[in-house]
Amino acid sequence: MELEKPLLDENKRRIDGRAVDELRPIKIEAGVLNRADGSAYLEWGENKVLAAVYGPREAHPRHRQDPTRALVQCRYNMAAFSVSDRKRPGPDRRSVEISKVISEAFSFVVFREQFPRTSVDIFIEVLQAEAGTRCAGLTAASVALADAGIPMRDLVVSCATGKADGELILDPGKEEDNRGQADMPLAVVPRTEDIVLLQMDGHLTQEELKKAMRMSIDACKEIYVIQKDALRKRYAVTTEEPVEVQETIDTQIKEE
Ligand code: CDP
Repeated sequence: MELEKPLLDENKRRIDGRAVDELRPIKIEAGVLNRADGSAYLEWGENKVLAAVYGPREAHPRHRQDPTRALVQCRYNMAAFSVSDRKRPGPDRRSVEISKVISEAFSFVVFREQFPRTSVDIFIEVLQAEAGTRCAGLTAASVALADAGIPMRDLVVSCATGKADGELILDPGKEEDNRGQADMPLAVVPRTEDIVLLQMDGHLTQEELKKAMRMSIDACKEIYVIQKDALRKRYAVTTEEPVEVQETIDTQIKEE
């Protein structure tokens, strides 16, 4: 029988060459869909995720409306083609759970009292999955909410820490998730360090749990910078543009 390759080599390098506290590469673009009020596209390692936000808009069905505040509703969906095994299209227990924990995380930051009877609808579509899709989806949705101009305390950021070959590893990849001893996704408001999502699969000691939370929070602060850059790029106004327009007008006047 062939022995499985260890998840960490003798220098504590991971199978994809990362250090134990290293994130996979992350790219975010804000405002990628014209129809939605806000949107974002995110690539995180091999994960590819689209997020769209509508609202605040009148909540339907009406009996679900809250007369004192907005509902924050999330639908997380993994496309049937997002994994190589056949995935049955449509909601399953896992996607219902992920949608619920993400809605709850955003309910904490959105100023819901400002918009009674409405709902803020968040759609997360995972186009390609490679472990850590709830963190990727939540991080993308946060940018989409800001792009939609939804009043919020701050952006929310998410990242998991796991355990493989007895060591804590930041942002587990697919094989580390499958063969590791623990996977702990966490979402945080970076400025205040309020934790708005914490789940765990596997086993960690109390000491490891504390250290893993610190690793995830520090990584979230790095990702926060990428989120803000994406929003800055989306709303940056170049000062050269009006000058060019003025030059065109001047040329036209001269020609006339
Ligand atoms: O994606 P995340 O880590 O948040 O959630 P998970 O339930 O721990 O799933 C881990 C990974 O398993 C996903 O990211 C997918 O790559 C994979 N998966 C799959 O191949 N087929 C499914 N039906 C569900 C998940």
